[in-house]
Amino acid sequence: MKATAVAPSNLAFIKYWGVIDPVLRLPANNSISMNLSGLLTTTTVEFNDSFNEDDILINGEYNKSESDRVTIHLNRIRALAKIGAKARVVSKNNFPASTGLSSSASGLAALTAASAAACSLNLSIRRLSILARLGSGSACRSVPDGVTEWVAGKTSDDSYGLSLYPPDYWNIVDLVAIISSEKKEIPTTQGHGLASTSPFFQVRQNLLPNKIKDLKKYLSEKDFNKFGHLVEAEALELHAIMLTSNPSLFYLRPETVLLIRKVQNWRKEGLEVFFSLNTGQDVHLLCQEKDVKSLKDLVARIPQVKKTILNYPSNGVRLVDNHLF
Ligand code: PMV
Repeated sequence: MKATAVAPSNLAFIKYWGVIDPVLRLPANNSISMNLSGLLTTTTVEFNDSFNEDDILINGEYNKSESDRVTIHLNRIRALAKIGAKARVVSKNNFPASTGLSSSASGLAALTAASAAACSLNLSIRRLSILARLGSGSACRSVPDGVTEWVAGKTSDDSYGLSLYPPDYWNIVDLVAIISSEKKEIPTTQGHGLASTSPFFQVRQNLLPNKIKDLKKYLSEKDFNKFGHLVEAEALELHAIMLTSNPSLFYLRPETVLLIRKVQNWRKEGLEVFFSLNTGQDVHLLCQEKDVKSLKDLVARIPQVKKTILNYPSNGVRLVDNHLF
């Protein structure tokens, strides 16, 4: 049987950085994110006893390391469904992959839902989220809807994403400013393993429970100003940990810093806009719906920004009928 799923990438307000179990991808801390309506992966999977091997095409290309990761994930699904059939997988992003826009979150969430449906596994959101997590940690937050929390858990069965708020809860916007589509050198899976080498990692762990409490309060009060300041501080903290890891991880580029300085200036001039960053050079610009036009106009005047993608909070992964093959 064949099935197709569409999954959003997500932007973490509280970041997942560091693992207590790299194989099961059990994170060092809870994280909270919003699903992004404009950054999507679509994946079609077909299992068929007549296929001789897994045939995996991602963004029109065959890539050995990505295919191996997909096959490992298909094996998890095959084991659950108790089937041996090989699969054909075609997957497409509508945005550049491996540049820090969390294509592995949307990719693994879409792969999980499509392959589970393709072998008639009827799984709850929680089970799908757990499975997606095994493929890529942050993918577990792209399964449920809207603003989601990944409950770190202590075992595989209690580490999953759940929905805190539906997509229409708050009209906030994430305008992604793409600076370069060049792929990052160090994949995040490797970065998570280095996090604890930072002398500041444990300090972060100690402070996180209160930070998470604060973020939840600002979300519940829809206090955009406090929310934005916290999200920005969290993005900088992620980079502080990465910069002080051994070896040091450096993802920022001059253009990234330029944009951060612009955001700080725009705010001084009265525009309520905040930035966030992941493991890449591109910048997430957060504002409220009422300020989108002003923000877009300002960003359009910066030649270093190659492209922007507008995102609203969105649903998580869903099955669709239009297959890619
Ligand atoms: O799920 P991974 O291994 O791609 O890691 C995601 C890491 C960050 O994007 C930096 C933070 C996060 O929580 O999304």
